[in-house]
Amino acid sequence: MGDAPRIGIIGVGVISGIYLETLTERPDIRVTAIADLDMTRAATVAAGIPGARALEVPALLADPDVDVVLNLTIPAAHADIALAAIANGKHVYGEKPLAVDFASGRRVMDAATAAGVRLGSAPDTVLGTGAQTARAVIDEGRIGRPIAATAVMATAGPESWHPSPDFYFLPGGGPLMDMGPYYISALVHLLGPVTAVVGSASRMRSERVIGSGPRAGVRIPVDVDTHVTGILEHAGGALSTLTTSFDSVKSSAAPIEIHGETGSLSVPDPNMFSGEVLFCPLGSRDWEPVGDRAGYVDAARGIGLLDMLAAATDAEVRASGRLGLHTLEVMTAVLASAHAGARVELETTVERPPLVPLGSSFDLTAL
Ligand SMILES: NC(=O)c1ccc[n+]([C@@H]2O[C@H](COP(=O)([O-])OP(=O)(O)OC[C@H]3O[C@@H](n4cnc5c(N)ncnc54)[C@H](O)[C@@H]3O)[C@@H](O)[C@H]2O)c1
Repeated sequence: MGDAPRIGIIGVGVISGIYLETLTERPDIRVTAIADLDMTRAATVAAGIPGARALEVPALLADPDVDVVLNLTIPAAHADIALAAIANGKHVYGEKPLAVDFASGRRVMDAATAAGVRLGSAPDTVLGTGAQTARAVIDEGRIGRPIAATAVMATAGPESWHPSPDFYFLPGGGPLMDMGPYYISALVHLLGPVTAVVGSASRMRSERVIGSGPRAGVRIPVDVDTHVTGILEHAGGALSTLTTSFDSVKSSAAPIEIHGETGSLSVPDPNMFSGEVLFCPLGSRDWEPVGDRAGYVDAARGIGLLDMLAAATDAEVRASGRLGLHTLEVMTAVLASAHAGARVELETTVERPPLVPLGSSFDLTAL
């Protein structure tokens, strides 16, 4: 792949700015092309990156000066863009979810495997010091055998702040498909893969009102459940209870708590890279702060892509397509369970990704 991996970014909306900060400050990586359905937007972003060109999507996909496609489009476009990139022999790292339905996600994973290219999927927040420190505490045996977890994401929804929030309320959106990847991938890092789920879901309103940007005041339809709960049965025996909601006003629940035979852990927001991990051993009354013990320090979005490029083998990719597919199956199975009123067993499994040693850095010539 040469010394400096060449990245082509497709989709340069709200989240692309953070990725660009991570990628453009590194001398060992080059952003060579930018594409978006909105070519004005692509041209504006490309103009700010030395050596980058604005291209139409098909041109970027075929461009010999692109080794890796960074897919930051909306969820409904994730699978098609990934499949096209893989068909052109490119490695792919994409925003979550991997796809909006399990069959499409499976197609993407199978295509990447057949083509021998790497596939990575957000979120990468769980590679930061927050979730990784909690993982280290579990691996050290300090909570004993893990028994249960709770994970709570409860907000009023993104339409108040996102200028184009339509996709959050279309299939592939909703609180589970949008925010579930953070919580579920953290739970898999912490407790291992999931074997079966039970779900229940509801929807408070059939319309939402955009609260910011040029379309403020516009009513948009809600085509997804906006309060989704699930019980996740982990292969190791632990049970996680997950709540994701756009139908709440505020919550003081810990984002994630893990309970073991000899201790409990409070895990910071898995949508953030860092935060305070708290531990309470059996017999104690109070939480004790745990200093950082693992994880990429001062990380930001894009670290999962760097981790994918630096991994010596495909099996060591942490924000992997395999984890993205398993997470997607957990989510779609929770929704299927909610609609069928029945427990659903999963087809996929995944190894817990390797722990990130504290302060790890990269050698991007590995691939
Ligand atoms: N906004 C956030 O805070 C946030 C945070 C984390 C992850 N994400 C994820 O990042 C992704 C993008 O979110 P966003 O908020 O940046 O969305 P956005 O709507 O602001 O931007 C998406 C961009 O992709 C372009 N696009 C859509 N379909 C395309 C296609 N087929 N080909 C080329 N370009 C296409 C759009 O024109 C737009 O510029 C989503 O998967 C979202 O879940 C967003």
